[in-house]
Amino acid sequence: CGIIGIVGVSSVAPRLVDALKRLEYRGYDSAGVAILEDGALTRRRAEGKLVNLEKRLVAEPMAGTIGIGHTRWATHGAPTERNAHPHATARLAVVHNGIIENFAELRTDLEADGYRFESDTDTEAVAQLVTRALDHGRTPVEAVRESLPKLKGAFALAILFAGENNLLVAARKGSPLAIGHGEGEMFLGSDAIALAPFTDTVSYLDEGDWAVLTRESVTIYDENGAQVTRAAQKSAGAAFLVSKGNHRHFMEKEIHEQPEVISHTLAHYLDFTRGRVRSENVPVDFARIDRLAISACGTAFYAASIGKYWFEQIARLPVDIDIASEFRYREMPLSKDTLALFVSQSGETADTLASLRYCKSQGLKIASIVNVKESTIARESDVIFPTLAGPEVGVASTKAFTCQLAVLAALAIAAGKARGTIDEKEEQRLVRHLSEIPRFANEVLRLSPQIEAVCRELMLVKHALYLGRGTSFPLAMEGALKLKEISYIHAEGYAAGELKHGPIALIDDTMPVIVIAPHDKLYEKTVSNMQEVAARGGRIILITDARGAKETGIKTLDTIVLPDMPDIIAPLIYALPVQMLAYYTAVFMGTDVDQPRNLAKSVTVE
Ligand code: G6P
Repeated sequence: CGIIGIVGVSSVAPRLVDALKRLEYRGYDSAGVAILEDGALTRRRAEGKLVNLEKRLVAEPMAGTIGIGHTRWATHGAPTERNAHPHATARLAVVHNGIIENFAELRTDLEADGYRFESDTDTEAVAQLVTRALDHGRTPVEAVRESLPKLKGAFALAILFAGENNLLVAARKGSPLAIGHGEGEMFLGSDAIALAPFTDTVSYLDEGDWAVLTRESVTIYDENGAQVTRAAQKSAGAAFLVSKGNHRHFMEKEIHEQPEVISHTLAHYLDFTRGRVRSENVPVDFARIDRLAISACGTAFYAASIGKYWFEQIARLPVDIDIASEFRYREMPLSKDTLALFVSQSGETADTLASLRYCKSQGLKIASIVNVKESTIARESDVIFPTLAGPEVGVASTKAFTCQLAVLAALAIAAGKARGTIDEKEEQRLVRHLSEIPRFANEVLRLSPQIEAVCRELMLVKHALYLGRGTSFPLAMEGALKLKEISYIHAEGYAAGELKHGPIALIDDTMPVIVIAPHDKLYEKTVSNMQEVAARGGRIILITDARGAKETGIKTLDTIVLPDMPDIIAPLIYALPVQMLAYYTAVFMGTDVDQPRNLAKSVTVE
């Protein structure tokens, strides 16, 4: 979804709509604006496409030079006008991207205090929370300062206050926000693309920042409340479209976009208010299928390999999974009750497409998880499950991978529900766990200084081994792939239990072993494998959680400690340190991170 805010000098409604149009590429299902007319808050919202909002504005025009706008992709509640942003109370209006996890608790608390809600959204909890602070006599800026720490989740916010004709307040925690500096006006956008018609001078809020905008000034605070400066950058219109923002490489930018794009993707499949799968977006009858045949290449193959564990455990649905270049020639016997599923970021990979066409020739129903909705694989599929990762520029896939995982997890829950292997309570529990991904992802991104330090060691080695069990096994292979792709260090990913069947022969003090081991039911088993490595002088880089770190009792070279989290989301969150290990190692080695040698983003030849 997209956010725009303007504290300007000319009529703001048409400019807000113009900016929202530039954010259309992000996908949305409703849109709205809120404007101050002589200090009074007015709102127009409409379901569906932006033209509906435009028609509204023609029929009932709005005057005023300060306002906020939003295109919404429903996360909480149906995509109706009532649930469209901005959400407002008598005193303020809010637009928001991302997920407020504790909205239900906040709502109960506010309702007990007499605050009445009119929508099903998590956003309204923010509107009411800040309103309560105003009712307690706080100034708008104080009210936001006081409310922000009470919000749990990953999000971006923009707030407009009744009677405050020269004030917008914005906050960033996990979802990006850019500030545009104009001549006697200021702008706010969920990305710089939205701001391009207004200004070419943009600064980006850092994680945890919040900002106070007036026509003349921008004051930015960090999460501790200290005033900070964020450098303004010059950029020309079209260049914004694929801009790196504050990042050195697209890969780094794409790694950091994950909290936002995962929440966007999840929202397409899950309704977090009800704790349900949005069955309208999963048009497959999983009860009528007795097998899934998945094929994919590269990183998409590893995402699908993790998905296999979920489909089998949650939905008791057997999964065959193949590398597409093998599948297409394997002449696998396929029954009519098999659903063929293809996973591809580009939707153009030649081997994946050939596998799809083979399955089609066998009369199978074809489904695909793709990031490019106009792609050949998408066009030739009966059912498309989009990942909403946005354009991925870095050749080494990062955000597309975690978004593929988000879709696979949601589909496994949908399948479990349809097949009666999970009940409504379990569905709700799993959906709630998935809603926590953006927040955990955001927390884990903050470990980058520590991960950089590990990479200063990793860059010195010739070979590395990645180990994991369960869903951490495909992630170990993905980790090894990432490292070799961009740093050119030779790396292998193995199931930890296979160590003794070969790779253990390689272990010595020149061979780092990266162990991915959340404290799940296989943790103890992985610890024994680590002991085998340690006993042979191998150097262990352990990625685990707080519980795991406490219990290993094994000396490691480094331990990267993530927060404790529900098992189902571990692969998505552990993917981040794995990506960062490869990224910083490559940066230190000075390789061409975004376009590594010999590799292509989209492999359209066999
Ligand atoms: C290439 C890319 C990989 C990608 C693979 C599959 O090898 O470099 O990052 O995982 O193709 O691409 P797809 O577009 O089908 O996901």
